[in-house]
This record gives sequence, structure tokens and C-alpha cells, in this order.
Amino acid sequence: MKGFILMERIRVGIILGGLSSEKEVSLNSGRNVFDNLDRERYEPVPVFMNSDGALWIIPWQLVSQNTTADIADRLEREAGRVAYEDLGREIDFAFIALHGKYGDDGCIQGLLEMLRIPYTGSGVLASALGMDKFMQQKLLEASGIAVPRSLVVTECEWRQHPGAVRDRIAARFSLPFVTKPTREGSSVGVTIVGDPALLDDALEKALAWDTSALVEEYLDGTEFSCIILERHGVPEVLGVTEIHPQDIFYTYDDKYMPGRCRKFTPPRTIPGDAVEEIRREVVRAYRALGFRSYGRIDGFVLSDGRVLVTDPNSSSGMAPSSFFFEQAAEAGMLPSMIAGELIEGAIAIHKSKKGPL
Ligand SMILES: Nc1ncnc2c1ncn2[C@@H]1O[C@H](COP(=O)(O)OP(=O)(O)OP(=O)(O)O)[C@@H](O)[C@H]1O
Ligand SMILES: [Mg+2]
Repeated sequence: MKGFILMERIRVGIILGGLSSEKEVSLNSGRNVFDNLDRERYEPVPVFMNSDGALWIIPWQLVSQNTTADIADRLEREAGRVAYEDLGREIDFAFIALHGKYGDDGCIQGLLEMLRIPYTGSGVLASALGMDKFMQQKLLEASGIAVPRSLVVTECEWRQHPGAVRDRIAARFSLPFVTKPTREGSSVGVTIVGDPALLDDALEKALAWDTSALVEEYLDGTEFSCIILERHGVPEVLGVTEIHPQDIFYTYDDKYMPGRCRKFTPPRTIPGDAVEEIRREVVRAYRALGFRSYGRIDGFVLSDGRVLVTDPNSSSGMAPSSFFFEQAAEAGMLPSMIAGELIEGAIAIHKSKKGPL
């Protein structure tokens, strides 16, 4: 056995599924992480969260199911229910592959903090900020980072004073403008409003997902997305991807249907000085929101060269075609390498924290 060091494998719980509108996206992410973890260093433990928020350790046969409903149907027979308080006996580390509400908004992070299980991504507050488009804009603005002009409409005021809400929007925005739920992802509930007659429906669509909606000026420019990976405490831009949606905007289908949308890493039409500006601004946004471990920060470059941050996310899709793995590939990293680096970086971050992250 000379020269052979036997290393204890880290049991990595890959948490997937969940309670949000993005549970199917999460299944794709989790499956891809499961497939790509280096088995010599990590023991992947797939942990499925069902639509009640209960956790189940599932066999690999269930990981490869097409939908979360297919998995849910087979849980009782083929999976093992694990109570929250027992999760720490099953895993040493949590790779959060959940997206959206309860998944990257601070909820699961708070649970993992209580259980003393280290995890990928940001802590409770930064995750909540990454999800709340209204609050993040306030903080980014205060840090001198350009964001779209916006106003918030609560469900309560819309139900009680719809006329006043319509007037307030008309006074602030010319057509087109954008409506979206304050806290959602994957473009769910987003509308580009090009006709005043469509406003009511657009607000209803956004308010179906949250108790407030955001109305934003429409940005006519080129969209970009950047993965930031924290290395030894320093946030580094993994890559910049330029996005050309097929739809009028970057819709759910554009995001997840293979071959729908054209993406260029590195950017093809964004000028070099704007790319440098993007790299600076996304790191500033990462720091302003207190993100840790990694994040995905999206924005627009306008025709006058201005760079705006529109959507800082404290987590990222992890499917094979995601920005995370595409930008890693462009940087010369195999999926197993980047996944390993993310885990090791997160473990180091959790080792040095004082109280919750
Ligand atoms: N102010 C805007 N001007 C123009 N287009 C916009 C604006 N806001 C959003 N969009 C379009 O709508 C899409 C979804 O909006 P946004 O990025 O806010 O949502 P999200 O649901 O958080 O997405 P993700 O899953 O990428 O986190 C964007 O990718 C963009 O194409
Ligand atoms: Mg988002």
C-alpha cells in the first residue's frame, strides 16, 4: 500500500425537486450533478424534496426519471423518508440543486444552518436577496450599480385601487414595459407589455406567483449572463455569455428547450470594453448582495454602451447546457472539475464562518 492514501469520501446530498415552479428544472440540475460528481472523492446521495417539503433519499433509478411526478409516485415503495433532524446522519454536505421558492431564497439554507450541514451557494440573507427583485435593486442602486427603473405593485393595492395603479404605471413608463413577479425564476410570470389593454392580464399573471409584482422599463439591448465562482474568498467571473433569444424575450422555452436560443461564450457582438465593464459590474453586484460560493448574474448592454444588472441569482441551473457548465467548459474545466471546485470552495467558506453564513 506504499504511497496510497485512502481518503474518506464526502457524502454529498444532492437536494433536488422541491416546492417551486422550477422543480422540473431542479430535477435536470440535480441529475446532471449526480452524474458528474467524482466518485473517488464524493459519494453522491440524491435527496428528493417532494411537494410537501419532505425529504427522501432516492435510488439512482429514480434520479433518472423524467418528471418529479414520476419520482413522487414511486417514493413510498422505492425511497427512504428522512426526517429533517436526521439528515446530518445521511450526508456530510448539501449540494443545493433546488431552484426558486424554498430552494434558493434562504429557506433550505436556514434549515441546513440549523442542522449544521455545509452547503453550496449563499447564506440565508443573500439567498433571500437573490430572489427578491425589488430589494436587490434597492441595494444595487445604493452601491452605484445601474439597474432598470422600476416600481412595485402589491396585490392589495391592485385589488383595491386598480385605476390608481394603472395611472401610476402610465405616468412612469412608456410602452413597452415589463411586468414580473417580485420573487420567481425561469421567466415564470414575466410579460413584455406592448399595449395598455394587456396591462391587467400581465399584472394578474405576475401576481399569480407572488403578493407583489415589479413593473420595469423595457431594456432594448443585448442580454448577458455571468457565472461567478468564489475562489479563496475572491469572486471570479467564470465567463460572459451573450444571449440571443428566439422569442421576444428570454422565455422558459428559450431557456430549456434544446437548440431554441443562440448563446455565445465569449460574447460575439458585445464590444470588448463593454465586456470588461460587465466583468467589473457583476463582481460588484455579487459583493453588494453578500453572495458567497457562487452566483449567476444577468443583465443587459444597451446600444449606448451602458451595462445594467437586471437579475442577480444566488444559484444557477446545473443542466448540461446551463451557463454554469458551458462557461466552465469554455474555461477548460470538465463538469466533474467545476462541481468539485464548487464543493471544496463551499466547504472552506463554511469552515471559516462565525454563526450562520
Ligand atoms: N427590464 C427588462 N427589459 C427587457 N427584457 C427583460 C427585462 N426584464 C426581464 N426581461 C426578459 O425577461 C427574462 C426573464 O426575466 P428575469 O431575468 O427578470 O427573470 P427570472 O425569472 O429571474 O430568470 P432566471 O431564471 O434567469 O433567473 C430575461 O431573461 C429577459 O429576457
Ligand atoms: Mg432570476
